[in-house]
Amino acid sequence: MVTAGPTYEAIDPVRFIGNNSSGKMGFALAAELSKQGADVILVCGPNNLRSNSSSIKRIDVVSSDEMHAQCMKYAKDSDITIMTAAVSDFKPAKKQAEKIKKEKGLNEISLVATKDILSELGKNKNRSLLVGFALETDNELANAKKKLHNKNLDFIVLNSLRDQNSAFGHDTNKITIIDKKETKKFELMSKDLCAVEIVKEVIRKVKRK
Ligand code: CTP
Repeated sequence: MVTAGPTYEAIDPVRFIGNNSSGKMGFALAAELSKQGADVILVCGPNNLRSNSSSIKRIDVVSSDEMHAQCMKYAKDSDITIMTAAVSDFKPAKKQAEKIKKEKGLNEISLVATKDILSELGKNKNRSLLVGFALETDNELANAKKKLHNKNLDFIVLNSLRDQNSAFGHDTNKITIIDKKETKKFELMSKDLCAVEIVKEVIRKVKRK
């Protein structure tokens, strides 16, 4: 199972809280896994991408709650779980049923935390290899290592918004693969090539299990 893209958290029927994730990294991973012979469940938030392989089953979701429900459904039968999606950490406490009118004004929106899907999967870890992503802007390595440990992952892929042409929206990415023993830094490369390296690491770890 691979997750990809952003989530949209509705404020009212017209507006939402979202983020800049394009879904490209997750789609590249799904394509590479399918190339290597895997049957892939791709749970993705709103995006404009296409998945052409017949071995990729695409499940479209919008909100973090919908992504959570689909992940819980499919993760239990997955051998490999890779969480690439940029899941929103907060959602409006209440979705307004009608469009909020300008005249009424909107000074603030009360937010509540969303469910951390990856943490939940880490807590109830089954035989599945569990891989997370860390998107950082500062203290990158320390933050990623903390997530590796706290979310009980087999490895984590770090990408930083400080690196040029990396992460959100770009066709390229500069990744660092971190497990409990080592840290492997890669140069800037296409997201397709990043996916090749990540899947190689997945295969190495699956063989060792
Ligand atoms: N993640 C998730 N559910 C959430 C938030 C994040 O499953 N509600 C997953 C992401 O898909 C990613 C990993 O957790 O694989 C780390 O996401 P990231 O946004 O880097 O970190 P957070 O845990 O959200 O922490 P922070 O935003 O404070 O850095």
